[in-house]
Amino acid sequence: MAENKYQGLRGMNDLLPGQTERWQELEAIIRRWLNIYGYGEIRTPILEQTALFSRSIGAVTDIVEKEMYSFLDQLNGESLTLRPEGTASCVRMVLEHHLLYSGPKRLWYQGPMFRHERPQKGRYRQFHQCGVEALGFSDPMVDVELIVMTHRLWQELKLQDVCLELNTIGDAACRARYRVRLIEYLERNKAQLDADSQRRLYTNPLRILDSKNFAMQELLAEAPQLIDDLSDEVNVHFEQVKKAVEALGISFNLNARLVRGLDYYNRTVFEWTSPALGAQATICGGGRYDGLVEQLGGKPTPACGFAMGLERLLDVIEAQSSWEWREQLPLFYMVYEANTALLAFEWAERLRSEGVSVVYHGGVASLKSQFKRADGSGALYALVVGEKEQKQQQVTVKSLRTQIEQVSLSINQVLEWIKQDFSHV
Ligand code: HAM
Repeated sequence: MAENKYQGLRGMNDLLPGQTERWQELEAIIRRWLNIYGYGEIRTPILEQTALFSRSIGAVTDIVEKEMYSFLDQLNGESLTLRPEGTASCVRMVLEHHLLYSGPKRLWYQGPMFRHERPQKGRYRQFHQCGVEALGFSDPMVDVELIVMTHRLWQELKLQDVCLELNTIGDAACRARYRVRLIEYLERNKAQLDADSQRRLYTNPLRILDSKNFAMQELLAEAPQLIDDLSDEVNVHFEQVKKAVEALGISFNLNARLVRGLDYYNRTVFEWTSPALGAQATICGGGRYDGLVEQLGGKPTPACGFAMGLERLLDVIEAQSSWEWREQLPLFYMVYEANTALLAFEWAERLRSEGVSVVYHGGVASLKSQFKRADGSGALYALVVGEKEQKQQQVTVKSLRTQIEQVSLSINQVLEWIKQDFSHV
């Protein structure tokens, strides 16, 4: 056999039949779920100007420093980037189309995102997010809405043991006060900082708290806490969020170390994790980003949102066998003889016009091998159109899954029978 010449790129997955049906089903559930909360779908291009991402995500973040697929447009030298996330594009679009003129907006999107990370289970270079953004709301109940709606989705998908990690990272003034104290502490312990953290000590010290380096955990556990620098206003907002989430029966871990990997956040931040996943356990992350709209050239506008990783969500569903996937198999498989092929094709079309799924064998083969393929297709019935059937203008219907005896029916009778017995198909 000739060797396969080309391979897909590392960390970028193909989805095959059998997998795509599950994606479609999950996407349909997500669509319905977003609809009941009144979110409207947006679709933005996969490519944007590089500066849009570096400005919003932050120049000193893993994503912007080392994970973006950026390149110069050969035609005009402009630096472009494959979107690593959706919030920046969403805000760009909202501003460009003046969507906020008519009041606050609830929006969602779904699609591929690109990050040049080291691929492993649950971490890919092309992955899919479903993201939700609520723009123009300062009300803490909208932070709560995001948490409650994600919780509802986990319940709908019958996920078990998903954990909510919750924190507030204050506003810019709180963080400026905290930054001074944190740098002071880290400077005193500079020898224990790894190379990455040394580099970030003055550029983005808060990101050091998020370090996954085990050797630094002890040092970080003793670090001063942002909570001591929070203003009353920030505290009141967070108290309201916590109280409502609790009152609605959702438990959470207060996690002072949760700072998120993108710079635009302020106040409430949260992540949902699942024990069914390995190292990449976060299925959903988000929070408030009240400064981003203004930072990208708009009027000061409070906002919040989240995104979930669809590969990870599907992994949890599979790992917990929590969901019964709908079988999407054809109803009929069309079997025929060489000189009745056209009639069989016409009848298959007749059924399809009524929305019935029919697989046409395609090609000359013995009846035995056609039945073998019919069986493998998962279809419930084989429809046989041979010379006898052609003469009688009837099709033989043979059950592939039960012992029920075969019957001969006109194509109209087949349709009537489907309407009666398969109205659900
Ligand atoms: P994020 O935490 O970077 O946030 O990504 C959100 C989710 O996308 C993660 O929790 C994870 O499930 C999934 N994800 C991220 N990177 C990968 C990867 N390499 N492979 C597979 N899945 C991945 C954001 O992107 C923010 N834009 C969320 C947001 C929206 N905040 C406010 N609005």
